[in-house]
Parts: sequence; C-alpha cells; structure tokens
Amino acid sequence: MANRINLRPTSPLVSGLLLFGIFLSILIIYNISSVKNENPSRSPFRAIRNGLQDILNADPDDGKKEGATESKIQQQDHCILNRKFMPKGSMPLILLLSFPGSGNTWVRYLLERSSGIYTGSVFNDVGTGNDDNAIFRASEVCSKTTLVVKAHSLNVKKCHIDGAIILVRNPYSAILAEFNRQSSDKTSNAPISAFKSEAWKNFAIEASSNWSRKIGTQLEKIPNRMILYYENLVQDTNFELHRMLEFLKVTPDENRIRCLFENVTGSFKRKHRKRDFNPYSSEMNDTIDSEILKLRKIMKEYGYILPPYESYMTLK
Ligand SMILES: *[C@@H]1O[C@H](CO)[C@@H](O)[C@H](O)[C@H]1NC(C)=O
Ligand SMILES: *[C@@H]1O[C@H](CO)[C@@H](O)[C@H](O)[C@H]1NC(C)=O
Ligand SMILES: *[C@@H]1O[C@H](CO)[C@@H](O)[C@H](O)[C@H]1NC(C)=O
Repeated sequence: MANRINLRPTSPLVSGLLLFGIFLSILIIYNISSVKNENPSRSPFRAIRNGLQDILNADPDDGKKEGATESKIQQQDHCILNRKFMPKGSMPLILLLSFPGSGNTWVRYLLERSSGIYTGSVFNDVGTGNDDNAIFRASEVCSKTTLVVKAHSLNVKKCHIDGAIILVRNPYSAILAEFNRQSSDKTSNAPISAFKSEAWKNFAIEASSNWSRKIGTQLEKIPNRMILYYENLVQDTNFELHRMLEFLKVTPDENRIRCLFENVTGSFKRKHRKRDFNPYSSEMNDTIDSEILKLRKIMKEYGYILPPYESYMTLK
C-alpha cells in the first residue's frame, strides 16, 4: 500500500501532471491555430457571403487591362506616394503568384503604393516604364530590389525564390477574365458569340485543371507562403493589405495607406460591370466544381480552407 501511487486529484504528483498537461494542450492548440488558420478573426465563408454581390458584379476581366490602375496614381496634394527601388540584392525574392485573371495587377498596385517600394513582374505589364511617372517600373526579375515580383508560375528564370504570396480567386471568375483578356482587343470583352464556341468550352475545362494543379504545385514548392483569397481582399482590402505587409515584414505606414484608400476603392469600383449571362454550361460547372474539390482537398492537407467556390456562377 505504501508505495502505491496515490491518484486522488489532491495528490501533488497528479496536480503537477494535470497542470503540465494543460500547459502542453495550450501550447499545442496555440500552434495548431497559428499554423492552420492564418486568419482566425475572419471566416472566409462570412466574407464570401457578404462580398458576394460585389464580386459577382465585379468586372470579369479584372487583370485584363494591366493599365487599368492608371487613374489611381494621381498624386494628392497632401499625399506622398513616391516609390523607390531597394539596394541590389537587399530584398528577398517573394513572388506574387496567381492564376491569370485573379487580380494580380491590383495587388501589385496596392503593395507598391502602400509600401513605397517598387514591385516587379516577369511580364512587361501595360504601363511599365522607366521613370517615376510610369504606373509600374521595369526591373530585373532576379535583382532583389523590389517588394514582390508578379508571376503566374514558378518558372522564374534561374533565381532562388524565397517565398510567395499565393493569390487565389474562384476559378469561374478567373477563367472568364483570362478568356476575355486573350480573346479580345485591349478594351473590350470577348463577343458573346465566342462563349458559344467549342474553343471557350475547351479553354474553360483546360484552365480549370491548370488552376487546381498550379495552385497545388505552388503550395507544395513554397513553404514560406501566404495564401490570399481575392474575395477576402475585395471584402476587406485594408485587413488583407495589412496581412500582406506583415508577411513581407514591412511596417505599415498608415498615412500612405490612407492616401492609397482615398482612391483605391473608387477606381476599383469603376471597373465593375454587370454581365447578364452566365457563360458556363452545367457540364462545365460540373468539371470546374470537381477541380475546386480537388484543390479543396489539397489545401486542407496544408491546413487551409478554400472558400465555397463551388457553383460560384450560380449563386446569383
Ligand atoms: C482619385 O483619382 C482621380 C483620378 O486621378 C481623381 O480625379 C479623384 O479626385 C481622386 N479621388 C479622390 C477621392 O481624391
Ligand atoms: C494550361 O497549362 C498549360 C501548361 O502550362 C498551358 O500550355 C496552357 O496554355 C494552359 N491552358 C489554359 C487554358 O490555361
Ligand atoms: C451551371 O450554370 C448554368 C448556367 O447558368 C446553370 O443554368 C446551371 O444550373 C449550372 N449547373 C450546375 C450544376 O450548377
């Protein structure tokens, strides 16, 4: 009897063990929540529901007019929106990765104006020039002088990638935006007749499998990453912008951000355009929804919850 361990809760050994257990659980829960939920204070579902109308009304060819931000750089009298390159080799190479048509150019603009540091691109975006009056400045992709480098894939020359912001938009809107960009001239949408063609159907089906595959690969290849859902960015631009700046280790300059916001919403909203037809057949919906499910499962393995993108175009 004497050497039997006393298991009454009052025993100091048991209390000690209990306390230690509670301490461990807290540690574990804390770690899981910081890994699994990048964004614990907001539910993507709520954001999607609230932002749905806006998003559905948003210009479907977002990203098409790379120069669409032109009007936004007008400098306000009291606002200093100057930008600079950082010394060569001083910045990590962080990609701003997305499937085409996902709002990449807009994010590039937000980051550049809020931080005062130029961004780069693997593309020669419309509006790119060699002086401060240009919308975007040309730079060498591997020079490590910019805050981020816009890209649509990981095939970025032969330079070491240090991390990425992976921007994800629902494939219905992204595919439509990209099709419009590819099949129209600079300013207009693809003609309605184009959506009756086999070409559109084939494009959408191929693009949707690219969408899930590419984002899946990016998750796998880039451990230092931040996932940004386009729909959340539309819903709460300020919050998501701060989250990006934190990821990029940039101290937010609230004055710059305020100046940016004086025009950012207005200009963005001006791009909204209603589209009164749904170009997706139920067969296409099914294919795209299955790609969404595929990516949903992959993302779950990495601890992310994909917003409710299924049948996105039918939620109207
Ligand atoms: C935003 O920019 C436009 C075009 O540059 C300008 O006309 C407008 O006054 C600005 N809006 C605000 C609220 O300052
Ligand atoms: C899909 O990806 C392949 C390989 O990267 C590319 O050649 C093709 O153009 C893409 N198609 C669409 C519609 O995105
Ligand atoms: C797919 O979209 C079409 C066109 O809007 C719609 O009529 C149909 O109900 C959708 N199908 C599914 C399975 O959601």
